[in-house]
Amino acid sequence: MSRQAPTLRLDRLLANLGYGSRREIQGLVRAGGVTLDGVELEDAGQRIPVTRDLTHRMEVDGEPLDPPPGLVLMIHKPLGVTCSHKEAGPLIYGLLPERWRRRDPALSTVGRLDKETSGLLLMTDDGGLLHRIIAPRNHVPKRYRVTLDRPLRGDEAQILAAGTLMLDGEDKPLLPVDMEIVSPTSATVILHEGRYHQVRRMFAALGNHVTGLHRDRIGGLDLPDALGPGAYQILSEVDLALVLPPAKAAAETTASA
Ligand code: URA
Repeated sequence: MSRQAPTLRLDRLLANLGYGSRREIQGLVRAGGVTLDGVELEDAGQRIPVTRDLTHRMEVDGEPLDPPPGLVLMIHKPLGVTCSHKEAGPLIYGLLPERWRRRDPALSTVGRLDKETSGLLLMTDDGGLLHRIIAPRNHVPKRYRVTLDRPLRGDEAQILAAGTLMLDGEDKPLLPVDMEIVSPTSATVILHEGRYHQVRRMFAALGNHVTGLHRDRIGGLDLPDALGPGAYQILSEVDLALVLPPAKAAAETTASA
């Protein structure tokens, strides 16, 4: 059975994508500024099925429509940029087109990276999907490249694999972490949970100090080499399936009468 796409009034759709107030959009439609499949739309109250391909079919002022709701992005977070309004410094949202910052539902980061951590970060306006990616029961592993201040002792991988390490101020040991030594002062670690500043606190508990931290993989999705610091791209269905298998990525449906 095929699921019908949800519909939205044209003025609501465009207002939610940040193109202006509903009144401004009504003016834009009257002026012939919105087309669908090459045909000018005349009624701002017309209901539009919201499908992914709208961005190829609808134009606003001669430009392709911004991606409709259900947007998932991967972004290469540069050092020095913050994921939260609570931290000082330039925000990750500043790397996105200005109009995208006015979207409703808003784009949010899927989890966070510290200001001084770089690498792969997902963003979405789909709150359900966001929670499914971060939910511990869905076990989405994350891989980090770590640079350390002091040479590794040699027993760290074994301690981390044992799942017994306690972080300062916590009462539950960390889940086992997979660690591979890359050089005397660098390693990769794969986390299966996400505690606050986990990698930095983990190495502090092992008597070392993290001087560089970069996330290069979420689930089975690698940060592409071509995506430089500050760049982003829309995640395809295929890429999303690498983060969460489709059965887990889809909204849980409940049987209805
Ligand atoms: N662990 C950290 O310490 N910082 C991050 O940004 C991510 C994981």
